[in-house]
Amino acid sequence: MRDVGIPTADFSVFTNYDEAMRYVQEKGVSIVVKASGLALGKGVAVCRTLGEAETALKEIMLDRVFKDAGTKVVIERYLEGQEVSIHALSDGKTHVMFPVSQDHKTIGEGDTGKNTGGMGVIAPLSFVSAELMQEIERMIVKPTFDALRKKGIEYSGILYPGLKLTSMGPKVLEYNARFGDPECQVYMRLLKTDLLDILDACVDGKLSDQQIEWNTGFAANIVLVSGGYPDEYKKGLPITGIGEAEKVPGVVVFHASTQHQGPALMTAGGRVLSVSAVGATLKSALDRAYEAVGKVRFEGMYFRRDIGAKSL
Ligand SMILES: Nc1ncnc2c1ncn2[C@@H]1O[C@H](COP(=O)(O)OP(=O)(O)O)[C@@H](O)[C@H]1O
Ligand SMILES: [Mg+2]
Repeated sequence: MRDVGIPTADFSVFTNYDEAMRYVQEKGVSIVVKASGLALGKGVAVCRTLGEAETALKEIMLDRVFKDAGTKVVIERYLEGQEVSIHALSDGKTHVMFPVSQDHKTIGEGDTGKNTGGMGVIAPLSFVSAELMQEIERMIVKPTFDALRKKGIEYSGILYPGLKLTSMGPKVLEYNARFGDPECQVYMRLLKTDLLDILDACVDGKLSDQQIEWNTGFAANIVLVSGGYPDEYKKGLPITGIGEAEKVPGVVVFHASTQHQGPALMTAGGRVLSVSAVGATLKSALDRAYEAVGKVRFEGMYFRRDIGAKSL
């Protein structure tokens, strides 16, 4: 991003704990500490105080809570603004943009508490205009694919940059080389064209010939997690009410961590189910999703009640 001028947060990279610690103490608050490797979506600490930053560095670099993922850390300036997810599909020659969506990353309502793998999504976003989407494509998506091509990388598949819409314009937080979860669930509800046809066209390098149609209206989904997640939680608890939930108009329940035990369905992880709904308005999609959530039960079940609330 630095090399080709794609807007991102100011950052420095460290492999030495003492140097990282000195940098953090100089910079003070409003920084983000990231374990550079894979950490199940838990390797990023948004630090509001110096103490939080010191703790994050110690846990990642000395205690090695994420094992070797913590050999290297990225320390970034905290960016203020709405967070949005962009998805683009490329066949290595051309790309197509998906509608913009918004995940809710933290466990607590009002965007508080620890980061998770995602607690709920809405799409599309009424606060992102067509002009802003064009700017994002021009300043971020296209230069990314161009830079990859220049490096000899024929990128075929989904590119999902996570952005913050700051007062200084859109900036990239990270790239994922896959669909977002739970973003994928709302895209599957909004996509009219068969996904297989689109992916086939992508593999064959014929994306520019492929029609891609989207349903009008909005989609929302609410993630149901085990009590205690993203820290310790229980597994193997019986789940009921999914059939009832899916009787609510426009609702589909996606399974993330569930397991059959005979005829019963049990929880099998932290993020258990994703309850999705479509509607003509964002409000109707959210109302339907929450109505369906009300039918599902398992011991300790937790979900955020404010998904999409800022956009209503
Ligand atoms: N520089 C930053 N400024 C503000 N928030 C950030 C920043 N970097 C990350 N975050 C927050 O932390 C979350 C996780 O960070 P991200 O870089 O996406 O890592 P990963 O998804 O691999 O855990 C982001 O979705 C965002 O909410
Ligand atoms: Mg992320």
